[in-house]
Amino acid sequence: MDILLLFIGAYLLGSISFSYIITKGLNKGDIRKLGSGNAGATNTLRVIGVGPAIFVLLLDVLKGIVPVWVALSLHFPLTTAIIAGGMAIIGHNWPVYYGFKGGKGVATTIGVFVVASFFPSLIAGILVILIIALTRYVSLGSIVFMILTPVLMFVFRSVPVEAALIAMLIGLLSIWRHRTNISRLLNGNERKLGQ
Ligand code: G3P
Repeated sequence: MDILLLFIGAYLLGSISFSYIITKGLNKGDIRKLGSGNAGATNTLRVIGVGPAIFVLLLDVLKGIVPVWVALSLHFPLTTAIIAGGMAIIGHNWPVYYGFKGGKGVATTIGVFVVASFFPSLIAGILVILIIALTRYVSLGSIVFMILTPVLMFVFRSVPVEAALIAMLIGLLSIWRHRTNISRLLNGNERKLGQ
């Protein structure tokens, strides 16, 4: 497969907004105008409930898994596979089908990182679950995951340096997408899980 086709396919896959589709499908309106306004699993939980949120989470994670897995199956280098995953994340954040207004790419990044380097993602994931359980701030957990996983990739040398650098860029992109969450966290008015 041509590398360009891989990247375009990943972007088009990432652009499918499951939170938007499910929220609209349940006649609840446009997820981007409800709750935090983010097209993602956390806001689906806030706006609709646990069942649809889990569904969105799994499908959004899958959007990250598929391009990396396809690229590796086609014997592209890991760095190329992670870039393909990054294209799916870009699609999730700026979806071509929905006026380029999407989410923050957390679940899709989890999918990309898990396939690219399982153990760093697992360790970071366990810590993040603890952080969310203790603080009830999903955004804080997401930000920690975005920083910690690429750092652990470097520390464990589980991927080539250039692949870890791309993972770091992906993490930084998501942190930038969380900038309103960061200011709410600093001001003490970020929504907690269940609020
Ligand atoms: O998955 C995104 C999460 O980290 C924050 O979502 O809706 O609280 O802005 P939200």
